[in-house]
Amino acid sequence: MKKILVIGAFGQIGSELVPALRKKYGRDNVVACGHMHKPDESALNTGPHDFFDVTNKKALEDIVDKYDTDTIYHLASILSAAGEKNPQLAYFVNNTGTYNVLEVARERKLERVMIPSSIAVFGSDTPRDNTPNKTILRPSTMYGISKVHGEMLGHYYFHKFGVDVRGVRFPGIISNVAQPGGGTTDYAVDIFYYAVKHKPYTCFLKPDSTLPMMYMPDALKAIMQLAEADGSKLKHRTDFNLSAFSFSPAELAAAIKAELPDFKIDYKPDFRQAIADTWPRSIDDSAARAEWGWKPDYTLQAMVKDMIRELSKRL
Ligand SMILES: NC(=O)c1ccc[n+]([C@@H]2O[C@H](COP(=O)([O-])OP(=O)(O)OC[C@H]3O[C@@H](n4cnc5c(N)ncnc54)[C@H](O)[C@@H]3O)[C@@H](O)[C@H]2O)c1
Repeated sequence: MKKILVIGAFGQIGSELVPALRKKYGRDNVVACGHMHKPDESALNTGPHDFFDVTNKKALEDIVDKYDTDTIYHLASILSAAGEKNPQLAYFVNNTGTYNVLEVARERKLERVMIPSSIAVFGSDTPRDNTPNKTILRPSTMYGISKVHGEMLGHYYFHKFGVDVRGVRFPGIISNVAQPGGGTTDYAVDIFYYAVKHKPYTCFLKPDSTLPMMYMPDALKAIMQLAEADGSKLKHRTDFNLSAFSFSPAELAAAIKAELPDFKIDYKPDFRQAIADTWPRSIDDSAARAEWGWKPDYTLQAMVKDMIRELSKRL
């Protein structure tokens, strides 16, 4: 029986991953763990939940034991833009948190640990088009450095201690449930909240700043599919490139305008532009396709239609 602990469960990805895991494995087999930020009662009423700080190893050990955990999805992280505002916090939470999760997994002989990585592992020395899985990893942000560290630590724990750690390098994730948590691709979510309210949007990236992106249902499918994949077929472990589609702010605005013709956008690039300039424009995800059958369902157009439909219902 799987007993799953989701750490960072009330963030952008966790808010949708927890219900998806509960649907698959049963409500009471998935414990949603948050930190300081308490979600509203409706989120808490959907199943078992707890609160702790992943940088506190003893607290993590107690939670793992309390819920008889065999699988961890470790989502707690300080993302790219938030991390550049507070690099010391990003260093501490991202590196210490991941180390604690891997140590507890080793000590308790957990069955599986899922730790998402990010396209933030790449940097300005990396080829920006069709970026290969195996390439130069010299990121310019504290977040990116911590993600390279997490990937390599995961490899180490797999080869040295046999801990079954797996992870994908997510591109920017677009979703309509929880707001994003301080990343460089957050504009691609924010823009929809303005568009459906018929308000103009000021974008913090330049109109031609193309980045790889993915719709949340594909992100959930990817991480859950990799968690269930036959380990003997995996040549990679913690660093699978993933791709769905790439677009620039101008291309996204045009796709929104096709649905909502009165939509208006202007551009005021800020410090996040410098981060975006070091990230790939498109990703080669052939390893994920070959090793565990990854294939996205959503195109840019399908994502835009679904985002507008879902947010219009809610807002
Ligand atoms: N959202 C994206 O576009 C994206 C893209 C690439 C990779 N990822 C990765 O996916 C994972 C989840 O991302 P997300 O977008 O849901 O992030 P998020 O910022 O929305 O959520 C992260 C959660 O971690 C929690 N947290 C922070 N410090 C903590 C601590 N000390 N102890 C316990 N919890 C703590 C926060 O309360 C927050 O709810 C992260 O590893 C992130 O790097 C996300």
